[in-house]
Amino acid sequence: MKAGVIGYPIKHSKSPVIHGHWMDTYNIDGDYQKIEIEPDNLNRNIKKLIQEKYNGFNVTIPFKEDIFKLCDYVDEHAKKIGAVNTVHIKDGQLYGTNTDAFGFIQNIKENSTFQFENKCAFILGAGGASRAIIYGLLNEGIEKIYLSNRTRKRAEELQAMSPDKIEIVEWGDKENSLYKTDLLINATSLGMVGQNVLSIDLTALPDHAIVTDIVYTPLMTPLLKQAQDKGHEIVTGIGMLLHQARPSFEAWTGIMPDVTSELEALALEK
Ligand code: ATR
Repeated sequence: MKAGVIGYPIKHSKSPVIHGHWMDTYNIDGDYQKIEIEPDNLNRNIKKLIQEKYNGFNVTIPFKEDIFKLCDYVDEHAKKIGAVNTVHIKDGQLYGTNTDAFGFIQNIKENSTFQFENKCAFILGAGGASRAIIYGLLNEGIEKIYLSNRTRKRAEELQAMSPDKIEIVEWGDKENSLYKTDLLINATSLGMVGQNVLSIDLTALPDHAIVTDIVYTPLMTPLLKQAQDKGHEIVTGIGMLLHQARPSFEAWTGIMPDVTSELEALALEK
């Protein structure tokens, strides 16, 4: 397997640790590298990866939309999410997909008791991660999504994915809709090391509601701590990162790898 992750900057990517672990586990020869590309040089560098016979690459900030446009083919997931995070190169052609929704949904399925049908989710945040999460939730048959974002306009853009099922809640009003929530999701960067804390009063959240966070540095975000202290089931964010990597590895090697506690510990090491 010859693969890597492209981004700018790329220093902090955990992807080499994840794919390196799977290459060891499944006895796959090869190499997975961090590939830093300056935004002006994207096309030239992608051509180079094709010439160098890469099987494919992962895509992170700021290239997920640019690569979408560069691909020869993009699948349904990438089209609906409007971004590509995984490319498979076959016969010199770029096949793009997006595995972020899979990563989010799989993390919830494997690490909680949540059932999606006829349930109500509440998403905080309306960036790229939120779009993938909404796509995943809709595919799983969620009944209703409350969506709240500091910048209302971005929430309105995402509401277009399913106007009947998505209702916008004013950022200043979020506590007032919590009582209807079965799954609360932080899809903002709040709570991440070096960022502000997400300030939310969970009093109205029903006891059965599950709380999850896309932030995994720290693993136990202030939101998750607060929810756990109140007795809620929680799902940490590291699983989304680990699960979204699985379909890439499968595309390049034919093996769908497992997420194990050993891998989780490796990914969480500094
Ligand atoms: P990603 O692709 O990871 O979702 P993004 O597109 O930069 O990243 O989105 C970041 C999210 O965090 C957005 O919902 C952003 O809100 P805005 O759309 O209003 O910018 C949210 N966010 C970041 N900092 C925030 C803050 N201090 N308060 C509230 N929301 C914040």
